[in-house]
Amino acid sequence: MVSATSPIGPAARVGAGATGPFFTAPSDTDPYAYQVGFGNRFATEALPGVLPSACNTPQKCKYDLISEQVNGTPFVSPRASLLHAWLYRIQPSVAHRPFKKLPRNPDLQAAFTPLNPEVEFTPQDRGWDKLPLPVNSETLDFVDGLKTIGGHGDPTIKEGVAVHMFAANASMKNRAFCNNDGDMLIVPQEGRLDIQTEFGRLMVRPGELFVVQAGLRFSVQLPDGIGRGYIQEVYGSHYELPELGPIGSNGMALPRDFEYPVACFDINASKWEIVVKLVGDLFVYEQDHTPYDVVAWHGNYVPYKYAMKKFINSATVDRDQSDPSIYCVLTAKSKIPGIALSDFLVFTPKWSVTRNTFRPPYYHRNVATEMMGMMYGTWGGSATNLMPGGLTYEPSYMPHGETYERWKEATLADLQPQRMGENVMAFMMHISGHCSLTKYALERSGCLQPIQEDMWDGFKPGLLNHLDQVQKDLAAAGFSGLNFVKKAPVNGIGSEDTSNGPHVNGHGSTML
Ligand SMILES: [Fe+2]
Repeated sequence: MVSATSPIGPAARVGAGATGPFFTAPSDTDPYAYQVGFGNRFATEALPGVLPSACNTPQKCKYDLISEQVNGTPFVSPRASLLHAWLYRIQPSVAHRPFKKLPRNPDLQAAFTPLNPEVEFTPQDRGWDKLPLPVNSETLDFVDGLKTIGGHGDPTIKEGVAVHMFAANASMKNRAFCNNDGDMLIVPQEGRLDIQTEFGRLMVRPGELFVVQAGLRFSVQLPDGIGRGYIQEVYGSHYELPELGPIGSNGMALPRDFEYPVACFDINASKWEIVVKLVGDLFVYEQDHTPYDVVAWHGNYVPYKYAMKKFINSATVDRDQSDPSIYCVLTAKSKIPGIALSDFLVFTPKWSVTRNTFRPPYYHRNVATEMMGMMYGTWGGSATNLMPGGLTYEPSYMPHGETYERWKEATLADLQPQRMGENVMAFMMHISGHCSLTKYALERSGCLQPIQEDMWDGFKPGLLNHLDQVQKDLAAAGFSGLNFVKKAPVNGIGSEDTSNGPHVNGHGSTML
């Protein structure tokens, strides 16, 4: 393996100047260095002088390397949205044997429309514990361990989202994965992922996210012996930083905190297999050389990672609540202008300081489907049974919020500045389309939580404790009092029935 050399240049002779671009330094848990800056157009070479000057495709590249372009946007796209990279590699990617189709994996789904019998739509919220790891006799690598939970849309029209979980206990050996369906945002929850890409290597730890774009090859090694986590895959879109709006030019995820690999290549003429995912089916081809033979590259269609503890929280500092969009790390646009395919939000430690405010998440019904997972810690939300490695699903428009006990506690609490979520990291996907869930998630996962049927049975209608005061307040304001309504007779038999509490109709036409 040969890595890009450190940015060493001639020492400054006049004054003091930088001798090269900024690279992060390796650490005990991450042996690799990175270039930084979301969306930058990087240039990196593991052997000096390989990147051609003032052109991309010279008649003959240095060392007889092959020039090859890969793009993630059409050739004719607005310049600001163009995503592509030039790679200078030992063998062209096309040098491989024909494809073979692998047996269908029923746990891997890509189309989430009603036409797919392997998925179903439900308005019922659901939750899952963490995926079981493979048992001792079973060996699953990252690709084998993919399990689809649900999603929206269809990769054939390049519009949609898939949510997967993975649990693996083996590294990929001479095996690479290439997902042609969409970009994958991978969130390890347990075990580091040592990921080799055509652009270089990245060590992705729990608490970090990793994005690999459609059509790029990568392999996952498990230095800790296991790997478990989550994946959000987007079809026909790419992850972007959200707009900052009135926040201004700083805050949320800072572009400088996104880390990109440096060129790093192997010379390896052994047999490799490349697994390609296309519309949820897996295909494989063999080649007699490593796909990780890129000596130099430049461009902006490049995998990257981000440590979510670096996210800068911004929220209300006086009273009331901000919407959760304030926690958006990355967003992927849908084809409807102004509407995201999915927003990826992160919840990290912060101060809660508001006065005269119901501080837990407000009761709401959200146009987006919410899918939430947790990397570590204990989730404070009382109505969600979320554990590290688990996942919850709140369908579009379905109401949710805190339990009665939590409501009561929050409405009576002495509101002091309070540190929240210490040693906790969780995330949420806000998916704009209606999502379906897979039969794997609903029938075969072995970690689906039972529905808590009596969860809301004890919620007390507090206003009923104040009816006398309501009558007095109405009278004081010059309005008539509440009128008790006689229930309509059923089958000709009926009378005023207050067995379930009074049915009242009065100012504001309040029906309880
Ligand atoms: Fe919500």
